[in-house]
Amino acid sequence: MQPLITPVITPSDSIVELKGVDLTREGNRVLEKVSFRVHRGDWVGIIGPNGAGKTTLLRVILGMIRPEGGSVSLFDTPIREFRRWHQVAYLPQKVTNFDPKFPVTVEEVVAMGRVPRLSLWKRMSRADWDAVERALDFTSVADLRRRQMGTLSGGQQQRVFIARALAAEPELLMLDEPTASVDTGATLEFYGLLRRLNQEMGITILHVSHDVSAVMDYCNALCCLNRVCYYGRDPKAMLESGEFAQVLSEVYGEHARFVVHRH
Ligand SMILES: Nc1ncnc2c1ncn2[C@@H]1O[C@H](COP(=O)(O)OP(=O)(O)OP(=O)(O)O)[C@@H](O)[C@H]1O
Ligand SMILES: [Mg+2]
Repeated sequence: MQPLITPVITPSDSIVELKGVDLTREGNRVLEKVSFRVHRGDWVGIIGPNGAGKTTLLRVILGMIRPEGGSVSLFDTPIREFRRWHQVAYLPQKVTNFDPKFPVTVEEVVAMGRVPRLSLWKRMSRADWDAVERALDFTSVADLRRRQMGTLSGGQQQRVFIARALAAEPELLMLDEPTASVDTGATLEFYGLLRRLNQEMGITILHVSHDVSAVMDYCNALCCLNRVCYYGRDPKAMLESGEFAQVLSEVYGEHARFVVHRH
């Protein structure tokens, strides 16, 4: 299969770098001295309780919110100078709450993924449609292409949104609780899809999730966030060393209990 990604030669493999990021919203400190570096090909799980600052963190990385302290770089470029937004795809939280009456087909939704790559007023080229086709195939939604979005199940809609993100041929994929509204079977299928994106296509993933167990199984780096961030590059080693239990109780509170099971 033809790869979706055109390899880009970069001087370093630093995809996201935060240094000492501080953010206050309406008088409350939401992020405090958050620092970590995400390398090309990483799959980073971001966990933490409700209100911990996970969605805010993603929005800071996307340049939608400017922190009052510290620095953020994307692809080795300070965020204020970063222009190559087509390299970054973002699936916001609750994206599957799609208005069932909105008349748009699966193919049209996926084609929207090409918009960041089109110059102003330019029409979709053959190459654009080829990218749409590959994204539909990769996520197994090609058979649904003529269906109205509103007629699909939550899990099918979620695959279409991933297809839309892939159509943009991103190098960094940011997902905010993507499995919140899908059943266990669809969740496993979804993690399998993400694994292929990460391993076969080399897409770097930042993945906010409340599913701590799945994060432990699939991710190679972990950001435990509750205003402050505990970042580790080997979640399994963290678990085995007992360090993780310590971090979880600091992040979630000492009464939290987690059962980590293998998928
Ligand atoms: N626009 C805003 N104005 C003021 N405060 C905000 C704003 N957005 C978020 N916050 C606050 O920032 C904190 C972090 O919110 P955030 O949405 O990042 O949490 P989260 O970790 O994504 O939570 P959840 O797991 O519930 O999605 C919360 O206390 C929230 O109320
Ligand atoms: Mg959130």
